[in-house]
Amino acid sequence: MAGQLTVDLGERSYEIYCGSGLLPRTGFYLHTLDLAAPCLVVSNATVAGLYWPAIEISLKEAGFQPHLALVPDGEEAKSLEVAAGLYNAALDAGIERRAAVIALGGGVAGDVAGFIAATWLRGVPFIQIPTTILAQVDSSVGGKVAVNHPKGKNLIGAFYQPRMVLADTDALTTLPPREIRAGLAEVIKYGVIADAGFFAYLEEHLDQALRGDRGVLESIILRCCALKAKVVAGDEREKGLRAILNFGHTVGHAVEAVTGFNTYRHGEAVAMGMVAAARMAVQRGMFSAAETGRLVRLLERAGLPVTMPALDPAAFRAALGHDKKIAWGQLRMILPERLGRVQITPIAVEEIMAVLGLGNPGAKEG
Ligand code: NAD
Ligand code: GLY
Repeated sequence: MAGQLTVDLGERSYEIYCGSGLLPRTGFYLHTLDLAAPCLVVSNATVAGLYWPAIEISLKEAGFQPHLALVPDGEEAKSLEVAAGLYNAALDAGIERRAAVIALGGGVAGDVAGFIAATWLRGVPFIQIPTTILAQVDSSVGGKVAVNHPKGKNLIGAFYQPRMVLADTDALTTLPPREIRAGLAEVIKYGVIADAGFFAYLEEHLDQALRGDRGVLESIILRCCALKAKVVAGDEREKGLRAILNFGHTVGHAVEAVTGFNTYRHGEAVAMGMVAAARMAVQRGMFSAAETGRLVRLLERAGLPVTMPALDPAAFRAALGHDKKIAWGQLRMILPERLGRVQITPIAVEEIMAVLGLGNPGAKEG
């Protein structure tokens, strides 16, 4: 029996199903959505090699005409060039207004497939079938879809909600250990931003999660999705509150950009970013060193990086200047007040550079 949650967004509301055995029942679930027969499944060779056969059979049995479009494995799939190829695939597959684009894979497949779904014919139904922890707890929920600009992550995109999320925990059994660890960074994020009790649960159950314990993973995923659904329902288009989901991402995205998007997994960069944000908050006297220690220890136990690599200060400063949270020219960061509570705080680039040891007293702010 799958766990089920609703993302409550009025006429754009949708269900998240999470549990074992969902993928071979994809057609059964999608059948409830009143979709046209053709559908375009966007995946990569790694994930499709594992899960496409079962999904294809299930979709066909439910009367769909599924077409598979493969994108490269890795962040390079989130580009306008790859998107252009997917528009051709949508055309060839006969994707009309009521026909779905389905993302099958991690956050990369989800983000680029969602970008296509949002823009093809000005928007067609979009389904998320996330297969990484990161995608099941974060990227498949909430409707942020995007491709990258060479100078910054996710700069070209939209808010476009899926019609359904099918998170099959069986898919996590084939995840490489590094991807499990990277996904746990976003899991730990939820504890810091919104739920101290959940943070404590993670301190107790992290080893089971790392070993792939199905029951622990399912309750973690449902808890994260419930927390995210609440935030998204309160602020779908990130006018305010939703920015808290970006805890660790200001520095994390800049690390990804200056290291060419492929050195660190997204979750690894977010782990470094969360520690940097915690240290900034300690320096401002708004967060305790003891709680920072708990965060660092949990991330370290999860095998995640907690210190920054050597980076070119000028490139890093420029990357911070492309952060999407800049409003009226002012960079804002999410800083913790205590475990379970954060604050959206205006911050000077120089303060970030100084805390990271990249500061240069003579330099101008970017
Ligand atoms: P990913 O999509 O690159 O997947 C990680 C790796 O795991 C890939 O090599 C993939 O082929 C492989 N993989 C996926 N599922 C597998 C499975 N079940 N078994 C074996 N291998 C599998 O990376 P990710 O960490 O899932 O997502 C990162 C992306 O998500 C970034 O681009 C990030 O910007 C984006 N993101 C988006 C949001 C959002 O709200 N839209 C939120 C967080 C992150
Ligand atoms: N991952 C951040 C958000 O969905 O807003």
